Amino acid sequence: MQKKLMAPGVYWLGAVDWDRRLFDDLVPLPDGTSYNAYLVQGTDKTALLDAVEPAMTDTLLAQLADVPRLDYIISQHAEQDHSGAIGLLLERYPEARVMATAKGKAMLHDLLRLPEDRVEAVADGDRLELGGKTLTFLHLPWVHWPETMASYLAEDRILFSCDFFGSHIAASELFVTDPCRVREAAKRYFAEIMAPFRPMIEKNLDKLAGLPMAMIAPSHGQVYDKPDWIVAATRQWATAAPANLVALPFVSMHGSTRRMVEHLTAALVARGTAVELFNLAVADVGKLAMALLDAGTIVVGAPTVLAGPHPLAAHAAFLANALRPKAKFLSIIGSYGWGGRTVEVLAGMVPNIKAEVLEPVLCKGLPTPETYAALDRLAEAIVAGHAAQGFAARVD
Ligand code: FEO
Repeated sequence: MQKKLMAPGVYWLGAVDWDRRLFDDLVPLPDGTSYNAYLVQGTDKTALLDAVEPAMTDTLLAQLADVPRLDYIISQHAEQDHSGAIGLLLERYPEARVMATAKGKAMLHDLLRLPEDRVEAVADGDRLELGGKTLTFLHLPWVHWPETMASYLAEDRILFSCDFFGSHIAASELFVTDPCRVREAAKRYFAEIMAPFRPMIEKNLDKLAGLPMAMIAPSHGQVYDKPDWIVAATRQWATAAPANLVALPFVSMHGSTRRMVEHLTAALVARGTAVELFNLAVADVGKLAMALLDAGTIVVGAPTVLAGPHPLAAHAAFLANALRPKAKFLSIIGSYGWGGRTVEVLAGMVPNIKAEVLEPVLCKGLPTPETYAALDRLAEAIVAGHAAQGFAARVD
């Protein structure tokens, strides 16, 4: 992919990764991704903002073939998908200095062993004059690492936001062409990596409020040339109350837990509460992360294996705990063969979820009429809890 003109002297560079289907060996990428870098050429100096995934370094170097000098490499985020190529860039451009937050400088040394004398720490609000182009560094911690920052190009009103407002989409078009598709991808991305830091996200959004923005140029996905909606959507994801929705990740080995899940789902839906089911044997954990962001209640469906929860259910509980969802209610349902500690083990895995635990429903073997009655009571408790909290239907 060739570099693309965004504004006079401002270019998108980077690599579109159409094939990648997994990030961090954890996060599904159904639409691939891109690693965006940006070139800003002033009359006096030239800066590159971020780099690319190391495997894509050649693509970036080819795009820089007609750039004889780089004065600055702005490293907004030390994670290797944006910083991994910087070492080779420093070899190619021996005059270049890397600019990062103080934490970023330390992390670039830790993660890449970049020579510390080539990296300069910049303070929040520091300005970099390139000649007719002025970059202002804005520290925005925890989007999604502690060292992250954005850069604002005043003359063209462009915010280079790094992972903030990003989406994992591979596309040939520079600007957003399908806002609905990008909105879902951006929500997925937010739910997967930024949701645990919602209070910091809100502060960072407040910090950006009032900044004139003609474009937001993130480091993954397409550039927003009408950025208001993604800022509003991000604020909603960070701050909205939970919805009248139950997220129900489950696994079932021989069908008993599945019968319980299906009964509870029907009981909830009949009472006006939406449910999103995730069969953990085949589930897309990105979709599960989005549901966890929205849900007022989380119910885990877990059969007992070797005296504890099925490992897939334990994985979902661990993930949910890490994402610190907003849910106010939590429960566990499932079938067991002869005994075990499924409830205790799962309950002990979610200390970060500040939710009321509703009476779990376990049954030995196939569910009985008593099991179904207990599931009906659980449905009623969830519906009553949601009503008391004033949870409304999910918006998106
Ligand atoms: Fe896209 Fe946190 O790296």
